[in-house]
Amino acid sequence: MAIRQVRTLGEEVLRATAKEVTEVTPRIRELIQDMFDTMYDSNGVGLAAPQVGIRKRIVVIDVTGEDPIALINPKILTSDGEQTGYEGCLSVPGKSGIVTRANHVVVEAYNQDMEKITVEGEELMARALQHEIDHLDGIMYVDKVEGKLYDNEELAEMAEEE
Ligand code: NI
Repeated sequence: MAIRQVRTLGEEVLRATAKEVTEVTPRIRELIQDMFDTMYDSNGVGLAAPQVGIRKRIVVIDVTGEDPIALINPKILTSDGEQTGYEGCLSVPGKSGIVTRANHVVVEAYNQDMEKITVEGEELMARALQHEIDHLDGIMYVDKVEGKLYDNEELAEMAEEE
């Protein structure tokens, strides 16, 4: 198990366009395992390779804690519907903001055996897929946030007052 350092907003690697993966080498497998370890260690539901400083088109997602999925060269094939809700990012620690995204997406990607797979997601899974795939093109959720960025402590206080 290896936890990698999570890069934070302002670091150039988060704004770069990541490169397609052509072959799953032992190093890539190790990277994917480390990405899962890093994501779980930070209680995240998704992580993209640029967030650990690697310019490759790889994301890991687990929105339930029991459904880990690694996607190589993911592409959104179709998206529909709309959802608006709070979103956060391990590269923007302690903050959340409201983002509107598609409510349902179909994604094509490759698995660790470089077999083509299709993944479909609704609601949180759809949000995670869109958020993580955005990272591969240097796009951060803060670019899409409606209104202000909240401190998570501030949000917790607001929730208590309700
Ligand atoms: Ni993120």
